Amino acid sequence: MAKTGRKATFAALEKQAERIAGRPMRVMFAEDPNRFRRFSVKAGDILLDYSKNRIDEEVMDALFAFARHVDVEGRRDAMWAGEPINSTEHRSVLHMALRYHGADPVMVNGEDVMPAVRETLANIKVFSNEVRDGTIRGATGEQFTDVVNIGIGGSDLGPAMVTLALEPYTRPDLRAHYVSNVDGAHMHDTLKRLDPKTTLFIVASKTFTTDETMTNAATARTWLSGALGEEAVNDHFAAVSTNIEACKSFGIKEDRIFGFWDWVGGRYSVWSAIGLPVAIAVGFENFEKFLKGAAEMDSHFLTTPLERNLPVIMGLIGIWYRNAWGFATHAVLPYDQRLSRFPAYLQQQDMESNGKSMTLSGKAVNWSTGPIVWGEPGTNGQHAFYQLIHQGTDVIPCDFLVAANPQEDLPPHHAKLVANVLAQSEALMLGKTEREVEVELKAQGLDEDAIKALTPHKVFPGNRPSNTIMYPRLTPETLGAIVALYEHKVFVQGTIWNVNSYDQWGVELGKQLAKALLPKVEGNAEWKDHDASTQGLLAYYHELRK
Ligand code: F6P
Repeated sequence: MAKTGRKATFAALEKQAERIAGRPMRVMFAEDPNRFRRFSVKAGDILLDYSKNRIDEEVMDALFAFARHVDVEGRRDAMWAGEPINSTEHRSVLHMALRYHGADPVMVNGEDVMPAVRETLANIKVFSNEVRDGTIRGATGEQFTDVVNIGIGGSDLGPAMVTLALEPYTRPDLRAHYVSNVDGAHMHDTLKRLDPKTTLFIVASKTFTTDETMTNAATARTWLSGALGEEAVNDHFAAVSTNIEACKSFGIKEDRIFGFWDWVGGRYSVWSAIGLPVAIAVGFENFEKFLKGAAEMDSHFLTTPLERNLPVIMGLIGIWYRNAWGFATHAVLPYDQRLSRFPAYLQQQDMESNGKSMTLSGKAVNWSTGPIVWGEPGTNGQHAFYQLIHQGTDVIPCDFLVAANPQEDLPPHHAKLVANVLAQSEALMLGKTEREVEVELKAQGLDEDAIKALTPHKVFPGNRPSNTIMYPRLTPETLGAIVALYEHKVFVQGTIWNVNSYDQWGVELGKQLAKALLPKVEGNAEWKDHDASTQGLLAYYHELRK
């Protein structure tokens, strides 16, 4: 598609939005008893109900036509064929290979990557099993009780989110901790509960140069060697990285270094050895099931026609709201407490991928790209920010996620949870009209003046969109499939926006400036070359430090 083609298509979608604006969802539901059947789709046993959106068949047809026009399928196949679709870094994008279970080769630069993928998985299996059964122990011969993953961004958010989500599969005598922030409080508060004799550290960094991770790793090492001696570092540290030499220089034994590859983006790396702390926490069999669930979603994504393809539909609906309606944010609301870190994980996956304003050929985009992604688990969010979602001036498309079955038998909790998630999407869609409010207040015995005064405050505009994703239970397989679903959604949107979803140059400037500012913060350099605000803040900082 020519560059102008996208702009013209977004304009055509805006016209569609104007057309459908006059037909609120509550009307469309009333007119069409088949609306749920028409606008819901399954991948395995994961259901996506997208009927509570401002769509009809004409809108969806236009969106699918758009996806075909920009060749989502061709780019998807190019990704899977190992083409360097991460063009600014000249890299393939093959996180799907990490969970591929088939017999075909997966090629990068003429080489099948699957033997190395399988070998690394085998190493993860041995190491995680041996930590779990006590074959691998600390320097004093004690079994490990605590594993501390030191990483940040993709080397933290994925495994931390997954470990929490799979809590029912963990062992109380083997705890996983995640330290990411360079704020010493994070490391301090983690270490204060731990015994060096029974603590294993995993330093996780794709580059093995990230300042936060290197700083935290050095502090952990000092803590460990201070208690057990420098030679104990061998027994208490492992590393995951693409930079094997840097791991060795840090002093990590070669057989404790788990590699991965530059064709795995940091925010897509939980399926690689970055998942090592997950494998230790929940057992390798469960880690494998997590990969298997993702592989099933991959095969759905790769082979299902666009009209029934979950990631494609979710991606297109996101485009619809971002570009035809101008909605700037997207809420992800899991009614699943153990998915409480899922929105944070998705913030990196989505916003670091599609928070771009240059096209693949380096021209400024002429349309909005990635939305702000945010969220919290329900029902907590209901008592915090849902007021704004229901009655605020901005429309916020939401994804609700919920399992049909809880992991624990604690009635009536789960029924209440499910009643709440269904109620929220229904309330957002239906709203409450002035007439309905008046009838309700009259039935409560209010007089006419009170009804007149109160009614406007109790009206809900409705017609607020949401998707609901329902799955049988939050198992490792299901979690894998859900995470892969969102990865592919991000891919679809990046393709439509014509941006590179796989680089992240926007994080570099802050890193550069922090490096330059460090000596000034430490009081070892003049700061006159900075702007007045930065100078003022530095001066006040030093005053407070006196
Ligand atoms: O600064 C952003 C980033 O590069 C992310 O993309 C990445 O996940 C994170 O930093 C951590 O990088 P690394 O794994 O190389 O330490």
